[in-house]
Amino acid sequence: MKDIFEKIKANFGPIGEHAKESHGYFTFPKLEGEIDPHMLFRGRKRLNWSLNNYLGLANHPEVRKTDAEAAAQYGLAYPMGARMMSGNTEMHEQLERELSDYVKKEDTILCNFGYQAMVSAIDSIVDRHDVIVYDAESHACILDGVRLHMGKRFVFKHNDIADCEKQLERAKKLVENTSGGILVITEGVFGMRGDQGKLKEIIELKKKFNFRLFVDDAHGIGTMGKNGGGTGEEQGCQDGIDIYFGTFAKSFALIGGFISSSKDIITFLRYNMRSQIFAKSLPMPLVVGALKRLELMRKHPEYREKLWEIANALQKGLVAGGFDIGDTNTMVTPVYLRGSIPEATNMVIDLRENYNIFCSMVVYPVIPKGMIILRIIPTAMHSMEDVKFTIESFSKIKDKLYGGEYAATEIKAGFAQKL
Ligand SMILES: Cc1ncc(COP(=O)(O)O)c(C=O)c1O
Repeated sequence: MKDIFEKIKANFGPIGEHAKESHGYFTFPKLEGEIDPHMLFRGRKRLNWSLNNYLGLANHPEVRKTDAEAAAQYGLAYPMGARMMSGNTEMHEQLERELSDYVKKEDTILCNFGYQAMVSAIDSIVDRHDVIVYDAESHACILDGVRLHMGKRFVFKHNDIADCEKQLERAKKLVENTSGGILVITEGVFGMRGDQGKLKEIIELKKKFNFRLFVDDAHGIGTMGKNGGGTGEEQGCQDGIDIYFGTFAKSFALIGGFISSSKDIITFLRYNMRSQIFAKSLPMPLVVGALKRLELMRKHPEYREKLWEIANALQKGLVAGGFDIGDTNTMVTPVYLRGSIPEATNMVIDLRENYNIFCSMVVYPVIPKGMIILRIIPTAMHSMEDVKFTIESFSKIKDKLYGGEYAATEIKAGFAQKL
């Protein structure tokens, strides 16, 4: 028999096993000061491209004022209990009505965390007779929701509509025997590659198959579509999305999330979604804060326009500089490079320490060996100078990478402390 703690100590997992080298620098870095494109990292100002504060609402003066006043008025405890028992308020319902209106759905349920919302909604919507068909590059919260599913699931190659159709064929054959239904799950904007889910094409498949579509639009809400109503609005197919999920963790610069759909489905979720029935409702300051953010998002399309201006300039400049940014068609900007993990590590240290640019790096095992992604998240708060400086700096580090300058040293444990 094994001791659980001994087993854990022997294997900290694919990311945790590098904790000695990475902790405090690559993982769990501390960004300090006001949320802004220029933040302190290890005591020095760095140009920061790693926060999903897409519209710049995190530090908006009206937002800060509303958050502070709501906290003073209600405290962080109110309301106590789950919505169903004692945690409901008029403000929670108002926010739900306004969100429904924003994303053009009949009704909405607020959720206390986005991640939990996705897991729990998937868990409650399907039963063991149903089949889930989902995109291979789905976010962890979708994968975890699918893991809870007691019936069959089929995965389709990322954004591959022919494969999606193939999996739907398999699903159809199965549900004919189980007399269950089919739920297709994908994302509006894929947060790593920055490509949009092919929602329109998937919805087209409804002509051939009977299924319901659930879209995680964590990155799309507030950023995509003329009014920021999300990727469905952008692609002109919001009606074809049967269940729509948005988080407050990105454009809203808050915490929590919501699910919108038809009245019946939301009523079902209110009474069956275990993560909401058995957990405390969103504290009032978050609800009041979300209402304020939503008001600003609607009143100020120029925030979204500025985000796109920055994103477009950045992507155009990177492509002109010979960079591979893959197939992004949103503001999320991955820069694909080739190199080993030690090279990637040395390059990011150089970028942070000598160019004062802070962005996230993605390497194996998240992506195939030999690939490096530097992920840039533009926001409405960035400036054209930030864009110009970043493209110039990236050109320099790319030359150094391919000139072999980063190949020399292995990263030693505790290096971050010595920097
Ligand atoms: C695609 C996607 N779905 C869901 C979530 C989870 O949302 P939250 O941070 O609100 O829990 C995230 C990340 O935050 C995400 O990127």
